[in-house]
Amino acid sequence: MNIAENIRKLKKEKNAVIIAHNYEIPEIQDIADFVGDSLGLSIEASRTDADIIVFCGVHFMAETAKILSPQKIVLLPDKNAGCPMADMIDADGLIALKKKHPNATSVCYVNTTAAVKAQCDYCCTSSNALKMAQHILKNNSEIIFVPDKYLAQYVSDQLNHKFIVWNGFCPTHAKILPEHIIKVKKKHPDAKIIVHPECRPEVTRLADAVLSTEKMCTYATESPAKEFIIGTEIGIIHRMKKENSQKYFYPVSESTICPNMKKINLEKVLWSLEDLSYQINIEPNIMEKARLSIERMLEIT
Ligand code: 13P
Ligand code: SF4
Repeated sequence: MNIAENIRKLKKEKNAVIIAHNYEIPEIQDIADFVGDSLGLSIEASRTDADIIVFCGVHFMAETAKILSPQKIVLLPDKNAGCPMADMIDADGLIALKKKHPNATSVCYVNTTAAVKAQCDYCCTSSNALKMAQHILKNNSEIIFVPDKYLAQYVSDQLNHKFIVWNGFCPTHAKILPEHIIKVKKKHPDAKIIVHPECRPEVTRLADAVLSTEKMCTYATESPAKEFIIGTEIGIIHRMKKENSQKYFYPVSESTICPNMKKINLEKVLWSLEDLSYQINIEPNIMEKARLSIERMLEIT
């Protein structure tokens, strides 16, 4: 029996489900029961009747799944798969910022630890950040938005409203520069440019669409265009090609790779199912508070 067959057998025996983020390596995407964006996967995980969720993504995503499904066992096959942006802010940092701006409403990107989410009024994702900010602005003009300064800037530009921000960013998306896009566009002038809102403002300004990873996949399928320039982690191109065999996808740069999203492989998924490792556990008090910020978001979106 090969590794994939072993995984399928164990998955059935243990009533587990495998979910994978759009940036995971092709073999992982292909074995997964669901492939999607950070929040979509956690919601999907909370809806299954599986006892075990094998989360192929990074730590904050598995934590979000655990927060939404506390009774289930949530496994992250590589415990070192983290998100450098999520690690750029901790709970103490946010508490200090809130102290400086006591009347502000705080919003944290889903790319944060549970401890940070526990200190926030609202959580948001790349797909609903604009909607969340619009909702909050109805009652309060002072918004703390952490930790991604580029996502904050993108939303802020759309609303023409300044936020109180944190100096966080995604090292993978920050590497994408306007000249990369211009170079690929010169080669493929008919291609639509789609980028993630974690990109720099100089980059998002060049795009035809600025979207979360799930919405990028939908855009690629629904658009009549045949060619696309992809400004995000290149792992997503596997899914785009699979779902659109007649279309062409060009990465902005072959080096747009998130090393953390490449840490999980088939062997680690198998070991994870065999040993039930590594289990995500969150302190109950933090989990309850973090869930509130996520639930407030889900009510609005
Ligand atoms: P999405 O929620 O759009 O999948 O983004 C997650 C992420 O980490 C992007 O770098
Ligand atoms: Fe974090 Fe960036 Fe990797 Fe997404 S691509 S998981 S934001 S480091």
